[in-house]
Amino acid sequence: MTSTLSPEIAINQAFADDVRRGLTSDPKYLLSRYFYDAAGDKLFQKIMNLPEYYLTWCEFEIFQKHWQNILRQLDGQPFDLVELGAGDGLKTRVLIRQFLAEKADFRYLPIDISRTVLQHLRETLYELWPDLPVTPVEGEYFSALQEIDRLSDRRKLVLFLGSNIGNMSQERAADFLRQLRQKLHPDDLLLVGFDLKKDPAVVLAAYNDSQGVTRDFNLNLLRRINRELGADFDLGAFRHWPTYNPLSGDTKSYLVSEQAQTVHIEALALEIPFRKWEAIDMELSKKYDPPEIEWLAEHAGFEVEQWFFDEKKYFADVLFRAA
Ligand code: AVI
Repeated sequence: MTSTLSPEIAINQAFADDVRRGLTSDPKYLLSRYFYDAAGDKLFQKIMNLPEYYLTWCEFEIFQKHWQNILRQLDGQPFDLVELGAGDGLKTRVLIRQFLAEKADFRYLPIDISRTVLQHLRETLYELWPDLPVTPVEGEYFSALQEIDRLSDRRKLVLFLGSNIGNMSQERAADFLRQLRQKLHPDDLLLVGFDLKKDPAVVLAAYNDSQGVTRDFNLNLLRRINRELGADFDLGAFRHWPTYNPLSGDTKSYLVSEQAQTVHIEALALEIPFRKWEAIDMELSKKYDPPEIEWLAEHAGFEVEQWFFDEKKYFADVLFRAA
């Protein structure tokens, strides 16, 4: 702990502060953005391959079916394909493959806060398409977009896929899109992946899979707190409890304490008491309906250009045009 400038220490401090704030609140909560440590990344990869996690399969289907319509919106002009939170870029590869086959003139600029993720992505893409111009941008979305804007005056097609927007409340999503709009120019395009309201049983199964991977994904955050902050959470004493509210579309997951217990967090010098059946609010994955999506676009300064659905209408990738 010699330098206060080390990003690792800065992130850990933010993590420690957020854990303190969340677990001393009433009701208790933790921020799902902390799910993604190395083990969490692996578990999320597993989730994306689960049969119940239809989101992945639907978005694949949409891209396979509609890539041409997406490309057509760029009017044959050179463009920058920017992806927010690129991850392993697996679904985006469907678009890239087709765009290259059509000889579209574009660069791929994945934005992610994880250097490791970006390095891995760059290597994979290089193996597949050594001639594809890839410019990974490490950082927070908005500062990275600013940087991209400084370097290029090409038109942008920004991707925000996989229902990542569902991990924000609708108000936060509107605010996020408004800020994003400010970083774009009129006529730039934004493709957003929304998970839609549907049979509640289908939604619930995606967050309560039979192999228990989603349970482990949630519990992994307690494991991370144990490891990084010296806590003594007993993972066996918490039950994974997902819920779906068909009215609001809120899919929420909780970890419920099955017994009265006290957890000690050494790095925070904190004792956290739990009553029997007291819950920690872990994650929101909001499901949308089309009017809500239109509301979002309008409030953020976008026009809805085109809707792309999978066969079952479980999921929509919606093309917004900066107004
Ligand atoms: C990353 N995000 C869109 C996922 C979702 O569906 O909300 C995270 C996830 N949580 C449980 N399963 C998947």
